[in-house]
Amino acid sequence: MTIPPRWSAALAAGVIGSLLLSVHAAEPTVPAADGTPQLRRQGTATQLVVDGKPFLILGGELFNSSSSSLEYMQPVWGRLAAQHLNTVLAGVSWELIEPEEGRFDFKLFDGLVRDARAHQMKLVLLWFASWKNGMSSYPPVWVKRDPQRFPRVQLQNGEVPEVLTPLSTTTADADARAFAALMKHVREIDARDHTVLMVQVENEVGVLNDSRDRSARAEEEFAKPVPLELMDLFWKHKETIVPELREVWEANGSKISGTWAEVFGPTKPKEFVLTWDLPEEQRKTEWRKLHWPVDEIFMAWYYSRYVNRVAEAGKREYNIPMYANAWLQQPGCAFPGTYPSGGPVPQVTDIWRLGAPSLDLLAPDLYVPEFAELCRRYVRAGNPLFIPETDGGPDAGRNLFLAVGAYNLIGFSPFGIDRPEFPRPAAPSNSPFPAPPAPGLGGNYEIMAQIAPLVLAHQGTDSLVGFALDKDHPSLVTNLGGTSVEISLDDLFGRKAEKGYGIVVAVGPDEFVGAGTGFRVIFKPANPGATKVGIGTVDEGVYRDGKWIPGRRLNGDEDDQGRAWRFSSWALQIERCTTYRYK
Ligand code: DGJ
Repeated sequence: MTIPPRWSAALAAGVIGSLLLSVHAAEPTVPAADGTPQLRRQGTATQLVVDGKPFLILGGELFNSSSSSLEYMQPVWGRLAAQHLNTVLAGVSWELIEPEEGRFDFKLFDGLVRDARAHQMKLVLLWFASWKNGMSSYPPVWVKRDPQRFPRVQLQNGEVPEVLTPLSTTTADADARAFAALMKHVREIDARDHTVLMVQVENEVGVLNDSRDRSARAEEEFAKPVPLELMDLFWKHKETIVPELREVWEANGSKISGTWAEVFGPTKPKEFVLTWDLPEEQRKTEWRKLHWPVDEIFMAWYYSRYVNRVAEAGKREYNIPMYANAWLQQPGCAFPGTYPSGGPVPQVTDIWRLGAPSLDLLAPDLYVPEFAELCRRYVRAGNPLFIPETDGGPDAGRNLFLAVGAYNLIGFSPFGIDRPEFPRPAAPSNSPFPAPPAPGLGGNYEIMAQIAPLVLAHQGTDSLVGFALDKDHPSLVTNLGGTSVEISLDDLFGRKAEKGYGIVVAVGPDEFVGAGTGFRVIFKPANPGATKVGIGTVDEGVYRDGKWIPGRRLNGDEDDQGRAWRFSSWALQIERCTTYRYK
């Protein structure tokens, strides 16, 4: 059971008010009795549940072609397992599944599943079909050869690139048939083992080098009135749609009907400053240029309808979570067409949710430095956060802890995980002590894997906090399960850490577990006259098979002589702290 279909059905019926699009309105989903991967709500979080238990994807995405050869993958599996990955995101392509129309071949796919299982690895499948990075290189040759039957987009300059148009139901149905065959096969071989957790439908869709499709059929649709169900989104739910989308609609007079251009603005490029574009400084300079929001909205509607047709066909065969991923706006490439126009970027996620109710979530390929800001934009309206692609470099650990602890992330997955130099080293610390081996992605996954059961048990409640600290965000004060805590960059004998990150969980009234690096926790009384909270004990340790095994008792410098529960910036570790109260 998924949240979006309910939204869509209710929106179409026009019976449920604006609350429906808010995070609090979603009802808890019920996990499949047979353990099939599903999404389930816990507090404010939506978690991936597999075999009845919450599952945190500590993943990595393979290079695009890696999974096309089982031999190539042989040495890779062991390397990934050694880095504590529990899931691999792997491409499964239309061209290899259906090399001739109607003839399906799952031999390679079966080998992939078998080898994943042999290494205790789960899989997220990437359905490389009609589009991959906006282009159409992955459809079988029998599709590529027949542009009459499977038409393409046309650009303003008349060029017809190798890009299928999303306005063709014939192409959508051909893609959907192949996808349904794949999902039927997944059910047949995996309904018991649940090796396959989720499926990404297509990859980074959208028109490149123009803001929209200009083919004859696209022009015809563009001249028609905006579909009523889409208009409903604006006039019935304007309070809950994302502000950047509402801004476009309001800037054009809040119309309740009309053609695309009448409702969302002129078709010709014009000066249009969207306040959401990016930070203040950039907004004033390079980001303040021409924009074509109407074209992006139009394309988002047609791509989402197409992807929905494919996802729906697949779900009819085997209902596991499905999502679409977005190539985001990048600095210097802020305008639709310089990034794929019509993909599920934040400003059009409401369009996608309405257009593609069969999808369970929309996911950012998150390489831009504004990591937290993008997480915030993607969790709006209750969208569960999954990051199928990101950078696995020095900031990966920080981003992982922040997203899991502050945005209820269900999975993290650096791209190109099979490159030989993974794990890449972490940034050097400013510690005066000799640095231990840099933890890299594998070290962060190792720690996260140990605390995952605890984190998942507390996710979505006020007994867990996740954070990333630096000179711009050096501290935070929060209530952790009833105790007020201040968390700040670590500081010992005047040497301040430059960066820190972690997760802290209140596991009992006077008992806390934390993991991370470069921060300190100070327990504060609820008010100045109240009972003080002192540190009772601090132990470092590890979880083995869920059991806490303490190591050193930390005191003296290690807890700043009792002043703070510290996580040194030259280590990445798990610690347990007890507190006591005194007058
Ligand atoms: C994003 C795409 O989704 C991936 O398949 C791959 O092409 C990467 N970009 C390369 O950086």
